[in-house]
Amino acid sequence: MFGLWFFFIIHGLQIFAPPSTLGTPATHLIFHLRSSPHAHSVLHAALFLQKRRAWIRWIRSSPRSPETPHYLWILGRLQRESMSRFVVTGANKGIGLEIVKGLLETNKNAFVFLGSRDAARGQNAVQSLLEQNSESYSGRVEALEIDVSDASSVLQASETVRTRLQSGGCGGGDGAGVSSPAYLDALINNAGMMPEDASSPTGFASCIDVNFRGVVRTTEAFLPLLEPWKGRIVNTSSTLGPSFVAKCSPERQALMTDPDVTHAQITRLVDECLAIASADGSLRGKFAAAGLSGIDGNMGVYGLSKALVNMYTVQLAREHPSLTINAAHPGFIKTDMTAPFEQSAGRTLEEMGAKTPAEGARVLVHLATAKVRGSGWYFDSDLQRSSLGR
Ligand SMILES: NC(=O)c1ccc[n+]([C@@H]2O[C@H](COP(=O)([O-])OP(=O)(O)OC[C@H]3O[C@@H](n4cnc5c(N)ncnc54)[C@H](OP(=O)(O)O)[C@@H]3O)[C@@H](O)[C@H]2O)c1
Repeated sequence: MFGLWFFFIIHGLQIFAPPSTLGTPATHLIFHLRSSPHAHSVLHAALFLQKRRAWIRWIRSSPRSPETPHYLWILGRLQRESMSRFVVTGANKGIGLEIVKGLLETNKNAFVFLGSRDAARGQNAVQSLLEQNSESYSGRVEALEIDVSDASSVLQASETVRTRLQSGGCGGGDGAGVSSPAYLDALINNAGMMPEDASSPTGFASCIDVNFRGVVRTTEAFLPLLEPWKGRIVNTSSTLGPSFVAKCSPERQALMTDPDVTHAQITRLVDECLAIASADGSLRGKFAAAGLSGIDGNMGVYGLSKALVNMYTVQLAREHPSLTINAAHPGFIKTDMTAPFEQSAGRTLEEMGAKTPAEGARVLVHLATAKVRGSGWYFDSDLQRSSLGR
């Protein structure tokens, strides 16, 4: 009962006293109660008020802040609550690196695990960020070795993150040596590749393995680390996914845009495609015969892999209604992935309308951090929801 009264008193003070004046009446009351058995009520009121940073500043600046377990516990809890933690795969360059930078810039309390399949490339990317803004980024970004095509690498990476969250690093733990879980706010599945020769069965399979199965593998390994009530997953997709779907037979289109699609149906489609890719005949001809005319070369296979990512996004969001899970097309972006197009088109990427990696990262950072209305949706680079099949 006291807790309820206390809640109303503090809430009243908050309404009548702006955060900058919290040092007056509320301060005295809370200061008195901080070392009392009602410290927990203080914590809950403070958390409710969502003024976490103001509270942390106030507790720290108080001349009478005693180094008591209560004080440390409250401070640790507030800090933990105010921290946001992210994992971004394929983040050592291109759009992924800009997603990391965007997260660090958008939220000064963000801690980002910068995923890279190559440890040295990951460290170099972290170093490049620190050289750009050491004062702000220092202690908030860390390289994470993760090859999404390798199940043991993905599991190892999730274990590394779990340990870091529990040990009090990256804003985890509670600062008082008391173990309490800290969670990831968002996983951004960004790693991806464009196949060089998708007409060979191995080229085809490796594109599906990195772009689609890599997303599934990583998601399954990191799901238990996500904040259960508000965690997010953002999948870097492509407009070539819906373009692929639009070229398929009506039956295939119905499946690939079905809001009730199951994981078993997605897996069956993948297995069927891999079997067709291994059969004799031209890539285009054998897939067209199966109602999958969208497969007309490397871009078509890449489009299939992103259509599968979109289907998985729909399925996963339906099965995890407390999470926010979306996919997005970053736009046509100048990166190492699109560099070969210059040669084939005989024009520069800029002449073809390519944007910068920072512009590509915008929709993905938005889906990971901003207020987002839906889940299981596919977004275009203009932040608008878009169709799964054109
Ligand atoms: N650029 C565009 O116009 C565009 C358009 C639509 C969608 N996308 C998507 O955006 C995402 C980022 O692409 P990007 O344009 O930034 O290309 P990028 O510069 O080539 O970056 C791709 C990233 O994915 C990583 N990667 C590749 N295979 C991996 C694996 N098995 N495990 C872990 N990481 C792996 C790469 O690591 P390494 O450096 O080690 O190779 C690199 O960090 C991709 O999902 C892509 O499909 C791009």
